[in-house]
Amino acid sequence: MMSRILIEGGTPLAGAVDVHGAKNAVLPILAATVLSEGVHVIHNCPKLKDVSITVEMLRYLGAKVTREDDTLIVDTRGHLGNHIPEKLMRELRSSIVFMGAILARNKRAKISAPGGCELGPRPIDLHIKALRELGASIRESHGYIICNGSQMRGANIHLSFPSVGATENIMLAACLTEGRTVIENVAKEPEILDLQNFLNRMGAKISGAGSSQITIDGVKELYAAEYTVMPDRIVAATYLCGAAASGGRVEIRKVVPEHLSATLSVLRESGCEISSGEDWVSLCAPERLQAVREITTMPYPGFPTDAQSLFLAMLAVADGTSIIKETIFESRFKPAEELVRMGADITVDGRIAIVQGVKKLSGATVSAKDLRGGAALVIAGLCAEGVTEVENPCYIDRGYAHLVEAFEQLGAKIKRVEY
Ligand code: UD1
Repeated sequence: MMSRILIEGGTPLAGAVDVHGAKNAVLPILAATVLSEGVHVIHNCPKLKDVSITVEMLRYLGAKVTREDDTLIVDTRGHLGNHIPEKLMRELRSSIVFMGAILARNKRAKISAPGGCELGPRPIDLHIKALRELGASIRESHGYIICNGSQMRGANIHLSFPSVGATENIMLAACLTEGRTVIENVAKEPEILDLQNFLNRMGAKISGAGSSQITIDGVKELYAAEYTVMPDRIVAATYLCGAAASGGRVEIRKVVPEHLSATLSVLRESGCEISSGEDWVSLCAPERLQAVREITTMPYPGFPTDAQSLFLAMLAVADGTSIIKETIFESRFKPAEELVRMGADITVDGRIAIVQGVKKLSGATVSAKDLRGGAALVIAGLCAEGVTEVENPCYIDRGYAHLVEAFEQLGAKIKRVEY
């Protein structure tokens, strides 16, 4: 069945809303469950498309997975396979972290090159190079990557770029590998710390996540664990941008405000008043948002590439000219074209977007082309005059469990229609 999101813009958002668990933390944590034989209980796993694909991968490997609300119970006892089929791998790029996890458990793995949202080329050279440095032998054959980990041992690894996925893959592979592994220039994203915390709960010996160096002392065995996944900082940013663009006043609950520093500082620069407590952030938008000097996407703690589209939509209605530079992924300005159809004045030149703020956007039929770009179109719809129809919300479902319901709770006139 096809569906669309319909938004009648113009209502400033108001009220409070909870944020669900972080997609980018759940995925590697679910991959990590294969490192032990036992029954894991993972709380705060939102009902997302990307989570259900990951669950399908676990089931394909032979794990038994059941869901009770936002809790996943993962039983990894008994034999688990070495192989994930191409069809599943193509659906989700981050599935590459299963390579390190399966290799650590079975000493062998066979997977195909991963897929996911189309955001330009998504190489995995850093993953392969690092696993080779750990002593894995890796070859490609007929589109599959075939790994043998029988000779693996701790090593010193330097990443030439702080890749999130490569950092996680090495952590997963190294925690059951004899000897000490030291990884330099790792990604510092909070989701890496969440993975470290989960692995340590399983009995791993990992330290340093959140800094640029991680040390892993290999252990012989890991055990099943119970864990609560961290909140999703990009979902939080989505609600905040929606409130800012619509001239609203909201409180976002169940978040870690520190994880939002880079996005909150841009929201402040645009004229929003921000307050925060231990696990909440509130935002009060000005009558008209101000343009910001420049946003450049960077690895954490810099401005997240995943929030870039959201700010593109929000700044489309700010007073003045804003510049956005995308340094992490190519092809991440896809929503710009759709926003222009709604009356935005945005010029994209390679990795730079120049956003000349307009007073009002006008409702139009637009099409989501990737996850965050889709959410950006919903944000645009919230502040546009008239009705906006967002086609292909299936992209949004990859990372938002209830975007429509959350905005509805905040007073937006929004609904999803199936046809
Ligand atoms: C993760 C996030 C994604 C986020 C991204 C950057 C998950 C499930 N996804 O993706 O939402 O946008 O971090 O914060 O956590 N690269 C290479 N070679 C490699 C690996 C990466 O050149 O072997 C490049 C990529 O092409 C990209 C950059 O490094 O330009 C960042 O990629 P990476 O940090 O690995 O992102 P992901 O882990 O794929």
